[in-house]
Amino acid sequence: AENVNTDINLDEYPHINKGLAGIVAFTTNKSFIDGQKGELIYAGYDIDTLAEKASFEEVCFLLWNDRLPNQSELDELNTKLQNSRSLPEPVLTYLKSTSKNAEPMAVLRTAISMLGDFHEVQADSSEEFRINKAISITAKMPTIIAAFDRSRNDKNIVEPLDEKSTAYNFLYMLNDEEPGEQAEKTMDLCLILHAEHGMNASTFTNRAICSTESDMYSSVTGAIGALKGPLHGGANQQVMNMLLDIDEKDADPVEYVKGRLERKEKVMGFGHRVYKTMDPRARILRSMSKKLSEETGHKELNKWSEAILRTMKDEKDIDPNVDFFSATVYYSMGIKPDLFTCIFSMSRVSGWTGHYIEQAENNRLVRPRALFIGDKHRDWVPLEER
Ligand code: ACO
Repeated sequence: AENVNTDINLDEYPHINKGLAGIVAFTTNKSFIDGQKGELIYAGYDIDTLAEKASFEEVCFLLWNDRLPNQSELDELNTKLQNSRSLPEPVLTYLKSTSKNAEPMAVLRTAISMLGDFHEVQADSSEEFRINKAISITAKMPTIIAAFDRSRNDKNIVEPLDEKSTAYNFLYMLNDEEPGEQAEKTMDLCLILHAEHGMNASTFTNRAICSTESDMYSSVTGAIGALKGPLHGGANQQVMNMLLDIDEKDADPVEYVKGRLERKEKVMGFGHRVYKTMDPRARILRSMSKKLSEETGHKELNKWSEAILRTMKDEKDIDPNVDFFSATVYYSMGIKPDLFTCIFSMSRVSGWTGHYIEQAENNRLVRPRALFIGDKHRDWVPLEER
Protein backbone atom coordinates (compact mmCIF):
# COMPACT_ATOMS: atom_id res chain seq x y z
CA ALA A 1 0.00 0.00 0.00
CA GLU A 2 1.08 3.58 -0.56
CA ASN A 3 2.01 5.40 2.62
CA VAL A 4 -0.32 8.41 2.78
CA ASN A 5 -0.13 8.69 6.55
CA THR A 6 2.21 11.52 7.39
CA ASP A 7 2.37 10.36 11.05
CA ILE A 8 4.10 7.15 9.98
CA ASN A 9 7.72 6.99 8.94
CA LEU A 10 8.22 3.51 7.48
CA ASP A 11 11.95 3.65 8.28
CA GLU A 12 10.95 3.35 11.94
CA TYR A 13 9.36 -0.03 11.23
CA PRO A 14 12.25 -2.18 9.96
CA HIS A 15 10.64 -5.23 11.59
CA ILE A 16 7.78 -5.33 9.07
CA ASN A 17 8.37 -8.59 7.33
CA LYS A 18 6.79 -8.57 3.92
CA GLY A 19 5.56 -12.05 3.10
CA LEU A 20 6.42 -13.10 6.69
CA ALA A 21 9.90 -14.00 5.39
CA GLY A 22 12.01 -15.60 8.09
CA ILE A 23 9.27 -15.32 10.74
CA VAL A 24 9.01 -18.35 13.02
CA ALA A 25 5.40 -18.57 14.21
CA PHE A 26 5.02 -22.28 15.08
CA THR A 27 6.98 -25.25 16.35
CA THR A 28 6.67 -28.51 14.43
CA ASN A 29 7.81 -32.13 14.33
CA LYS A 30 6.73 -32.55 10.71
CA SER A 31 9.68 -31.43 8.63
CA PHE A 32 13.04 -29.70 8.63
CA ILE A 33 14.51 -27.76 5.72
CA ASP A 34 18.12 -26.59 5.43
CA GLY A 35 17.89 -24.09 2.59
CA GLN A 36 21.63 -23.60 2.33
CA LYS A 37 22.52 -27.27 2.14
CA GLY A 38 19.44 -28.32 0.18
CA GLU A 39 18.29 -30.75 2.84
CA LEU A 40 14.72 -31.90 3.55
CA ILE A 41 13.74 -34.20 6.42
CA TYR A 42 10.24 -35.48 7.26
CA ALA A 43 9.96 -36.29 11.00
CA GLY A 44 13.52 -37.55 11.21
CA TYR A 45 13.87 -39.20 7.79
CA ASP A 46 15.83 -37.67 4.96
CA ILE A 47 13.87 -37.22 1.71
CA ASP A 48 16.38 -39.38 -0.21
CA THR A 49 15.82 -42.27 2.22
CA LEU A 50 12.05 -41.89 2.02
CA ALA A 51 12.17 -41.67 -1.78
CA GLU A 52 14.15 -44.88 -1.93
CA LYS A 53 12.48 -46.93 0.80
CA ALA A 54 9.04 -45.64 1.83
CA SER A 55 5.56 -45.82 0.34
CA PHE A 56 3.25 -42.79 0.30
CA GLU A 57 1.02 -44.51 2.87
CA GLU A 58 3.98 -44.95 5.25
CA VAL A 59 4.76 -41.25 4.81
CA CYS A 60 1.12 -40.39 5.64
CA PHE A 61 1.35 -42.43 8.82
CA LEU A 62 4.63 -40.71 9.67
CA LEU A 63 3.15 -37.24 9.19
CA TRP A 64 0.06 -38.04 11.25
CA ASN A 65 1.80 -39.93 14.07
CA ASP A 66 5.38 -38.62 14.02
CA ARG A 67 6.71 -42.19 13.73
CA LEU A 68 6.80 -44.97 11.16
CA PRO A 69 4.10 -47.68 11.28
CA ASN A 70 4.77 -51.35 11.93
CA GLN A 71 3.28 -53.87 9.48
CA SER A 72 -0.08 -54.24 11.25
CA GLU A 73 -0.46 -50.46 11.64
CA LEU A 74 0.31 -50.00 7.95
CA ASP A 75 -2.19 -52.73 7.01
CA GLU A 76 -4.80 -51.03 9.16
CA LEU A 77 -4.13 -47.66 7.53
CA ASN A 78 -4.35 -49.19 4.05
CA THR A 79 -7.68 -50.81 4.91
CA LYS A 80 -9.04 -47.52 6.24
CA LEU A 81 -7.88 -45.67 3.13
CA GLN A 82 -9.47 -48.31 0.89
CA ASN A 83 -12.73 -48.10 2.81
CA SER A 84 -12.78 -44.31 2.50
CA ARG A 85 -12.07 -43.76 -1.20
CA SER A 86 -15.71 -43.62 -2.40
CA LEU A 87 -17.52 -40.30 -2.55
CA PRO A 88 -20.97 -39.37 -1.23
CA GLU A 89 -23.47 -39.40 -4.12
CA PRO A 90 -24.11 -35.60 -4.09
CA VAL A 91 -20.37 -34.94 -4.46
CA LEU A 92 -20.27 -37.27 -7.48
CA THR A 93 -23.34 -35.51 -8.87
CA TYR A 94 -21.55 -32.18 -8.45
CA LEU A 95 -18.45 -33.48 -10.24
CA LYS A 96 -20.60 -34.69 -13.13
CA SER A 97 -22.63 -31.52 -13.37
CA THR A 98 -20.13 -28.71 -12.93
CA SER A 99 -18.69 -26.83 -15.93
CA LYS A 100 -16.36 -28.97 -18.04
CA ASN A 101 -14.21 -25.86 -18.43
CA ALA A 102 -13.79 -25.36 -14.68
CA GLU A 103 -10.25 -25.35 -13.35
CA PRO A 104 -9.62 -28.77 -11.76
CA MET A 105 -8.15 -27.11 -8.64
CA ALA A 106 -11.32 -25.06 -8.22
CA VAL A 107 -13.41 -28.22 -8.56
CA LEU A 108 -11.22 -30.05 -6.04
CA ARG A 109 -11.56 -27.13 -3.61
CA THR A 110 -15.35 -27.14 -3.91
CA ALA A 111 -15.61 -30.93 -3.62
CA ILE A 112 -13.51 -31.04 -0.45
CA SER A 113 -15.58 -28.23 1.02
CA MET A 114 -18.74 -30.15 0.10
CA LEU A 115 -17.49 -33.32 1.82
CA GLY A 116 -17.76 -31.40 5.07
CA ASP A 117 -21.54 -31.33 4.55
CA PHE A 118 -21.75 -35.13 4.63
CA HIS A 119 -19.34 -36.03 7.41
CA GLU A 120 -19.06 -35.17 11.04
CA VAL A 121 -16.84 -32.14 11.14
CA GLN A 122 -16.10 -31.57 14.81
CA ALA A 123 -17.62 -34.57 16.60
CA ASP A 124 -14.85 -34.81 19.15
CA SER A 125 -11.45 -33.35 19.72
CA SER A 126 -9.47 -36.56 20.13
CA GLU A 127 -6.34 -37.19 18.11
CA GLU A 128 -7.91 -40.43 16.83
CA PHE A 129 -10.88 -38.53 15.43
CA ARG A 130 -8.55 -36.10 13.67
CA ILE A 131 -6.37 -38.85 12.21
CA ASN A 132 -9.46 -40.64 10.91
CA LYS A 133 -10.60 -37.37 9.29
CA ALA A 134 -7.16 -36.99 7.71
CA ILE A 135 -7.42 -40.54 6.34
CA SER A 136 -10.91 -39.91 4.99
CA ILE A 137 -9.97 -36.68 3.19
CA THR A 138 -6.67 -38.06 1.85
CA ALA A 139 -8.43 -41.17 0.52
CA LYS A 140 -11.03 -39.16 -1.40
CA MET A 141 -8.77 -36.68 -3.18
CA PRO A 142 -7.67 -39.05 -5.99
CA THR A 143 -11.28 -40.17 -6.51
CA ILE A 144 -12.45 -36.56 -6.88
CA ILE A 145 -9.71 -35.62 -9.35
CA ALA A 146 -10.14 -38.73 -11.51
CA ALA A 147 -13.95 -38.50 -11.48
CA PHE A 148 -13.93 -34.87 -12.62
CA ASP A 149 -11.37 -35.51 -15.35
CA ARG A 150 -13.33 -38.45 -16.74
CA SER A 151 -16.63 -36.64 -16.48
CA ARG A 152 -15.38 -33.53 -18.32
CA ASN A 153 -14.16 -35.82 -21.10
CA ASP A 154 -17.55 -37.62 -21.30
CA LYS A 155 -16.04 -40.85 -20.04
CA ASN A 156 -17.46 -43.31 -17.51
CA ILE A 157 -16.51 -42.70 -13.89
CA VAL A 158 -14.32 -45.48 -12.53
CA GLU A 159 -14.99 -46.68 -8.97
CA PRO A 160 -11.99 -47.03 -6.66
CA LEU A 161 -10.70 -50.53 -5.94
CA ASP A 162 -10.91 -51.92 -2.42
CA GLU A 163 -7.27 -52.93 -2.66
CA LYS A 164 -3.99 -51.43 -3.92
CA SER A 165 -2.16 -48.18 -3.14
CA THR A 166 -3.20 -44.54 -3.45
CA ALA A 167 -0.93 -44.15 -6.50
CA TYR A 168 -2.34 -47.28 -8.16
CA ASN A 169 -5.94 -46.28 -7.51
CA PHE A 170 -5.43 -42.78 -8.85
CA LEU A 171 -3.93 -43.97 -12.15
CA TYR A 172 -6.52 -46.72 -12.43
CA MET A 173 -9.47 -44.36 -11.86
CA LEU A 174 -7.98 -41.73 -14.18
CA ASN A 175 -7.26 -44.03 -17.13
CA ASP A 176 -9.69 -46.93 -16.56
CA GLU A 177 -6.81 -49.33 -16.89
CA GLU A 178 -4.52 -51.02 -14.41
CA PRO A 179 -1.23 -49.11 -14.24
CA GLY A 180 2.06 -50.92 -14.74
CA GLU A 181 4.47 -51.37 -11.86
CA GLN A 182 6.73 -48.58 -13.14
CA ALA A 183 3.89 -46.05 -13.44
CA GLU A 184 2.60 -46.86 -9.95
CA LYS A 185 6.11 -46.51 -8.52
CA THR A 186 6.69 -43.17 -10.24
CA MET A 187 3.37 -41.78 -9.01
CA ASP A 188 4.05 -43.09 -5.50
CA LEU A 189 7.45 -41.39 -5.51
CA CYS A 190 5.91 -38.09 -6.64
CA LEU A 191 3.40 -38.33 -3.79
CA ILE A 192 6.22 -38.91 -1.29
CA LEU A 193 8.23 -35.95 -2.58
CA HIS A 194 5.34 -33.48 -2.36
CA ALA A 195 3.89 -34.60 0.99
CA GLU A 196 5.32 -32.04 3.38
CA HIS A 197 7.36 -28.86 3.29
CA GLY A 198 7.33 -26.75 6.43
CA MET A 199 5.48 -23.46 6.67
CA ASN A 200 4.75 -22.92 2.96
CA ALA A 201 1.78 -20.70 2.05
CA SER A 202 -0.83 -23.48 1.91
CA THR A 203 0.31 -25.13 5.15
CA PHE A 204 0.32 -21.75 6.85
CA THR A 205 -3.22 -21.08 5.58
CA ASN A 206 -4.30 -24.48 6.86
CA ARG A 207 -2.78 -23.85 10.30
CA ALA A 208 -4.30 -20.37 10.51
CA ILE A 209 -7.76 -21.83 9.80
CA CYS A 210 -7.19 -24.64 12.31
CA SER A 211 -6.13 -22.05 14.90
CA THR A 212 -9.65 -20.59 14.91
CA GLU A 213 -10.83 -24.07 16.00
CA SER A 214 -12.48 -24.52 12.63
CA ASP A 215 -12.77 -28.02 11.12
CA MET A 216 -10.38 -29.97 8.91
CA TYR A 217 -12.55 -29.69 5.76
CA SER A 218 -12.35 -25.91 6.07
CA SER A 219 -8.60 -25.92 6.60
CA VAL A 220 -7.93 -28.25 3.65
CA THR A 221 -10.31 -26.21 1.46
CA GLY A 222 -8.37 -23.04 2.34
CA ALA A 223 -5.05 -24.78 1.75
CA ILE A 224 -6.14 -25.90 -1.73
CA GLY A 225 -7.03 -22.29 -2.50
CA ALA A 226 -3.52 -21.21 -1.46
CA LEU A 227 -1.75 -24.01 -3.33
CA LYS A 228 -3.63 -23.20 -6.53
CA GLY A 229 -1.76 -19.92 -7.14
CA PRO A 230 1.10 -19.86 -9.68
CA LEU A 231 3.65 -18.65 -7.10
CA HIS A 232 3.01 -21.83 -5.09
CA GLY A 233 1.74 -25.21 -6.37
CA GLY A 234 0.21 -23.76 -9.53
CA ALA A 235 3.75 -23.32 -10.87
CA ASN A 236 4.03 -26.93 -12.10
CA GLN A 237 1.20 -26.37 -14.58
CA GLN A 238 2.81 -23.09 -15.70
CA VAL A 239 6.13 -24.86 -16.26
CA MET A 240 4.42 -27.27 -18.65
CA ASN A 241 2.64 -24.41 -20.42
CA MET A 242 6.03 -22.77 -20.92
CA LEU A 243 7.56 -25.97 -22.39
CA LEU A 244 4.54 -26.45 -24.66
CA ASP A 245 4.77 -22.80 -25.74
CA ILE A 246 8.44 -23.30 -26.63
CA ASP A 247 7.41 -26.32 -28.68
CA GLU A 248 4.55 -24.57 -30.44
CA LYS A 249 6.65 -21.52 -31.33
CA ASP A 250 9.60 -23.72 -32.26
CA ALA A 251 11.57 -21.36 -30.02
CA ASP A 252 15.11 -21.66 -28.73
CA PRO A 253 14.60 -22.35 -24.99
CA VAL A 254 17.65 -20.26 -24.02
CA GLU A 255 16.43 -17.20 -25.94
CA TYR A 256 12.89 -17.81 -24.68
CA VAL A 257 14.00 -17.69 -21.06
CA LYS A 258 16.32 -14.73 -21.62
CA GLY A 259 13.37 -12.90 -23.20
CA ARG A 260 11.24 -13.55 -20.13
CA LEU A 261 13.97 -12.30 -17.83
CA GLU A 262 14.49 -9.17 -19.94
CA ARG A 263 10.76 -8.46 -19.69
CA LYS A 264 11.08 -8.97 -15.91
CA GLU A 265 8.78 -11.97 -16.06
CA LYS A 266 9.28 -14.87 -13.67
CA VAL A 267 10.40 -18.20 -15.04
CA MET A 268 8.11 -20.67 -13.34
CA GLY A 269 9.59 -23.59 -11.42
CA PHE A 270 12.60 -21.55 -10.30
CA GLY A 271 13.41 -19.80 -7.05
CA HIS A 272 12.38 -20.51 -3.51
CA ARG A 273 11.89 -18.59 -0.30
CA VAL A 274 13.92 -21.10 1.72
CA TYR A 275 16.25 -22.98 -0.66
CA LYS A 276 19.26 -21.05 -1.84
CA THR A 277 20.60 -24.08 -3.65
CA MET A 278 19.05 -26.97 -5.61
CA ASP A 279 15.84 -28.19 -3.97
CA PRO A 280 16.57 -31.85 -3.05
CA ARG A 281 13.20 -32.87 -4.51
CA ALA A 282 14.13 -31.23 -7.81
CA ARG A 283 17.34 -33.27 -7.79
CA ILE A 284 15.38 -36.53 -7.53
CA LEU A 285 12.75 -35.42 -10.07
CA ARG A 286 15.47 -34.27 -12.49
CA SER A 287 16.80 -37.79 -12.95
CA MET A 288 13.26 -39.20 -13.16
CA SER A 289 12.38 -36.62 -15.78
CA LYS A 290 15.41 -37.55 -17.88
CA LYS A 291 14.64 -41.27 -17.70
CA LEU A 292 10.91 -40.94 -18.34
CA SER A 293 11.11 -38.40 -21.13
CA GLU A 294 13.61 -40.61 -22.97
CA GLU A 295 11.46 -43.71 -22.46
CA THR A 296 8.26 -42.04 -23.63
CA GLY A 297 9.62 -40.21 -26.68
CA HIS A 298 9.62 -36.73 -25.09
CA LYS A 299 13.39 -36.44 -25.15
CA GLU A 300 13.27 -32.82 -26.33
CA LEU A 301 11.40 -31.77 -23.16
CA ASN A 302 14.29 -32.91 -21.05
CA LYS A 303 16.80 -31.21 -23.35
CA TRP A 304 14.91 -27.91 -23.11
CA SER A 305 14.52 -28.24 -19.33
CA GLU A 306 18.27 -28.71 -18.94
CA ALA A 307 18.93 -25.70 -21.21
CA ILE A 308 16.51 -23.57 -19.16
CA LEU A 309 18.19 -24.72 -15.94
CA ARG A 310 21.64 -23.71 -17.22
CA THR A 311 20.35 -20.33 -18.44
CA MET A 312 18.69 -19.56 -15.09
CA LYS A 313 21.90 -20.46 -13.27
CA ASP A 314 24.08 -18.33 -15.59
CA GLU A 315 21.76 -15.35 -15.84
CA LYS A 316 20.26 -15.17 -12.33
CA ASP A 317 21.99 -17.80 -10.21
CA ILE A 318 18.56 -19.24 -9.39
CA ASP A 319 17.96 -22.99 -9.00
CA PRO A 320 14.87 -25.03 -9.86
CA ASN A 321 12.26 -25.92 -7.24
CA VAL A 322 10.07 -29.04 -6.94
CA ASP A 323 7.67 -27.82 -9.63
CA PHE A 324 10.17 -27.59 -12.48
CA PHE A 325 10.90 -31.25 -13.18
CA SER A 326 7.65 -32.65 -11.78
CA ALA A 327 5.96 -31.07 -14.81
CA THR A 328 7.88 -33.23 -17.32
CA VAL A 329 7.47 -36.29 -15.13
CA TYR A 330 3.66 -35.98 -15.06
CA TYR A 331 3.51 -35.07 -18.74
CA SER A 332 5.60 -38.10 -19.67
CA MET A 333 3.09 -40.20 -17.72
CA GLY A 334 0.35 -38.91 -20.02
CA ILE A 335 -1.28 -36.64 -17.42
CA LYS A 336 -2.89 -33.40 -18.59
CA PRO A 337 -1.10 -30.23 -17.41
CA ASP A 338 -4.17 -28.77 -15.72
CA LEU A 339 -4.23 -31.76 -13.33
CA PHE A 340 -0.64 -31.27 -12.15
CA THR A 341 -1.48 -29.04 -9.18
CA CYS A 342 -4.28 -31.40 -8.16
CA ILE A 343 -1.72 -34.20 -7.92
CA PHE A 344 0.35 -31.91 -5.71
CA SER A 345 -2.74 -31.45 -3.44
CA MET A 346 -3.38 -35.19 -3.40
CA SER A 347 0.00 -35.59 -1.75
CA ARG A 348 0.30 -32.39 0.32
CA VAL A 349 -3.01 -33.11 2.03
CA SER A 350 -1.01 -35.51 4.22
CA GLY A 351 1.23 -32.67 5.38
CA TRP A 352 -1.65 -30.21 5.78
CA THR A 353 -3.64 -32.60 7.94
CA GLY A 354 -0.50 -33.54 9.92
CA HIS A 355 -0.02 -29.85 10.68
CA TYR A 356 -3.72 -29.51 11.54
CA ILE A 357 -3.38 -32.29 14.13
CA GLU A 358 -0.22 -30.66 15.53
CA GLN A 359 -1.79 -27.19 15.66
CA ALA A 360 -4.98 -28.46 17.31
CA GLU A 361 -2.97 -30.16 20.04
CA ASN A 362 -1.19 -26.99 21.06
CA ASN A 363 -3.29 -24.18 19.68
CA ARG A 364 -3.10 -20.44 19.80
CA LEU A 365 -5.11 -18.23 17.47
CA VAL A 366 -3.03 -17.01 14.51
CA ARG A 367 -3.48 -13.28 14.46
CA PRO A 368 -0.62 -11.08 13.20
CA ARG A 369 -0.82 -7.31 12.75
CA ALA A 370 -0.66 -4.94 9.81
CA LEU A 371 0.73 -1.40 10.06
CA PHE A 372 -1.93 1.13 9.04
CA ILE A 373 -0.47 3.59 6.56
CA GLY A 374 -3.71 5.03 5.22
CA ASP A 375 -5.40 8.36 6.04
CA LYS A 376 -6.68 8.37 9.61
CA HIS A 377 -8.84 11.47 9.41
CA ARG A 378 -10.86 12.29 6.32
CA ASP A 379 -13.75 14.69 6.06
CA TRP A 380 -17.06 12.97 5.37
CA VAL A 381 -18.48 14.14 2.02
CA PRO A 382 -22.19 13.42 1.48
CA LEU A 383 -22.86 10.91 -1.34
CA GLU A 384 -24.45 13.44 -3.68
CA GLU A 385 -21.40 15.72 -3.44
CA ARG A 386 -18.74 13.07 -4.23
N1 ACO B 1 12.25 -16.12 -12.29
C1 ACO B 1 12.91 -14.96 -12.40
N2 ACO B 1 13.37 -14.27 -11.35
C2 ACO B 1 13.14 -14.77 -10.14
C3 ACO B 1 12.46 -15.98 -9.95
C4 ACO B 1 12.01 -16.65 -11.09
N3 ACO B 1 11.36 -17.81 -10.98
N4 ACO B 1 12.37 -16.25 -8.64
C5 ACO B 1 12.97 -15.23 -8.01
N5 ACO B 1 13.44 -14.34 -8.91
C6 ACO B 1 14.15 -13.10 -8.62
C7 ACO B 1 13.16 -12.01 -8.28
O1 ACO B 1 12.74 -11.31 -9.41
C8 ACO B 1 13.96 -11.18 -7.33
O2 ACO B 1 14.86 -10.41 -8.07
P1 ACO B 1 15.14 -8.89 -7.70
O3 ACO B 1 15.73 -8.95 -6.32
O4 ACO B 1 16.06 -8.43 -8.77
O5 ACO B 1 13.80 -8.22 -7.71
C9 ACO B 1 14.80 -12.19 -6.57
O6 ACO B 1 14.93 -13.30 -7.45
C10 ACO B 1 14.15 -12.64 -5.27
O7 ACO B 1 12.86 -13.19 -5.57
P2 ACO B 1 11.54 -12.95 -4.75
O8 ACO B 1 10.38 -13.09 -5.65
O9 ACO B 1 11.66 -11.69 -3.95
O10 ACO B 1 11.64 -14.17 -3.76
P3 ACO B 1 10.48 -14.71 -2.85
O11 ACO B 1 11.12 -15.49 -1.79
O12 ACO B 1 9.56 -13.62 -2.45
O13 ACO B 1 9.65 -15.63 -3.84
C11 ACO B 1 9.01 -17.45 -5.18
C12 ACO B 1 9.81 -16.99 -3.95
C13 ACO B 1 7.58 -16.89 -5.08
C14 ACO B 1 8.96 -18.96 -5.18
C15 ACO B 1 9.69 -16.92 -6.45
O14 ACO B 1 10.98 -17.48 -6.58
C16 ACO B 1 8.88 -17.22 -7.71
O15 ACO B 1 7.96 -16.46 -8.04
N6 ACO B 1 9.18 -18.32 -8.44
C17 ACO B 1 8.40 -18.70 -9.59
C18 ACO B 1 7.12 -19.43 -9.16
C19 ACO B 1 7.40 -20.81 -8.63
O16 ACO B 1 8.12 -21.60 -9.21
N7 ACO B 1 6.76 -21.12 -7.48
C20 ACO B 1 6.88 -22.44 -6.86
C21 ACO B 1 7.66 -22.35 -5.58
S1 ACO B 1 7.88 -23.93 -4.86
C22 ACO B 1 6.34 -24.32 -4.28
O17 ACO B 1 5.58 -23.52 -3.86
C23 ACO B 1 5.94 -25.66 -4.38
